[in-house]
Amino acid sequence: MTIATFDKSESGTINFGIGQPAPDLMPVKLFSEFTRSFLSNATPEDFNYGPVGGEPRVLSALSKFLSTSYNIEVNPQSLFLTGGNSHGIDLVCERFTKPGDTILVEEASYFLAFAIFQDRQLNVISVPTDADGLIIDQLEVAVKKYHPSAVYVIPDFNNPTGISLSTKRRAELTDLSKQHDFVLISDDAYQMLSYTNTSYQAMGTFVNEGNVISLGTFSKILAPGFRVGWIQSSEILLEKIRQTGWLNSGGSVSHLGSHIVRCALESGEQDKHLQYLLTQYSSRASAMHDALLHHLGDELIWQRPQGGYFFWLASKSRRDLEVFRGESLRCKTGFQPGSLFSCGAELNHYMRLSFSHYTEDQIWEGISRMAPILKSN
Ligand SMILES: Cc1ncc(COP(=O)(O)O)c(C=O)c1O
Repeated sequence: MTIATFDKSESGTINFGIGQPAPDLMPVKLFSEFTRSFLSNATPEDFNYGPVGGEPRVLSALSKFLSTSYNIEVNPQSLFLTGGNSHGIDLVCERFTKPGDTILVEEASYFLAFAIFQDRQLNVISVPTDADGLIIDQLEVAVKKYHPSAVYVIPDFNNPTGISLSTKRRAELTDLSKQHDFVLISDDAYQMLSYTNTSYQAMGTFVNEGNVISLGTFSKILAPGFRVGWIQSSEILLEKIRQTGWLNSGGSVSHLGSHIVRCALESGEQDKHLQYLLTQYSSRASAMHDALLHHLGDELIWQRPQGGYFFWLASKSRRDLEVFRGESLRCKTGFQPGSLFSCGAELNHYMRLSFSHYTEDQIWEGISRMAPILKSN
């Protein structure tokens, strides 16, 4: 599979295909404060190999942060540091699957995870979703048919659909993981990015009810460059992860980065920054919704996202939208075609737009560039 990437240096292009934080939302000054704070108190041990799974002070700060966010006590022992969710997905596949095994995913799902599954030589099968996320009855049928070793879901503000899995289905999915003995890889990258009062029970709160592995990351709430994330799971699954040879050889991943993140957590600045991001992203989502209604309301249909980074839009006339991609880029705007998110290369009448990377003005400008292209022919 060839993965399309974007050249961010393309000057003047407003490319909504980029699902990354905006440059203006990177708190660079704070990063230098956290780094100074870490360095002024650091000991030689902080520059040595870190304990596999993370340094206790980091895990303690993370557990406090998650306990407040999930409104339930999160034990530091249930946490294991990763280099972000991409690393977490690969690590879990490495430990719990073998080449030729089947992994079930949502239709649609995160296209870059498909590349990881391909690296691990997994057979990827998709299961339909509706407005409440993965359809559990259909998942059960697929589980009985394919006997997967893993199921991969993005339960909160899915990339690309923006849909969240209902709390009832989270519990059912957890039960199924126990009954049928598969690992449930819950990619919770957008869990904390909710722009309304509606929130679902975090998958991290289900880890002792089934074979649940919740993956969290600082990429979307602080900065991807730190390469710091975490696994939250039960002792029995974590023990298997702790036995990973290269982790035992090299120790904690992103050891220094995790100490800088610790300073962000301990100072309370991570909480403040998250609140700031929620207001910013919420306004950007509103700007995109309004710009789309204004320019493309006759062509496209969508649900306004309640969180995360993405709009998932369908052509009302079910036209193949991928064909407009080249022309969009020539006109200095862009999107991700829906087919990228389908493991069967379907969904080509869909497109994904991210509102995270640009300001409100840029969002209006980019949509106004895209409108004549999608309206042509
Ligand atoms: C669903 C999902 N998982 C994982 C990632 C990558 O996360 P990380 O930067 O923590 O590796 C992304 C980033 O776009 C994502 O959307």
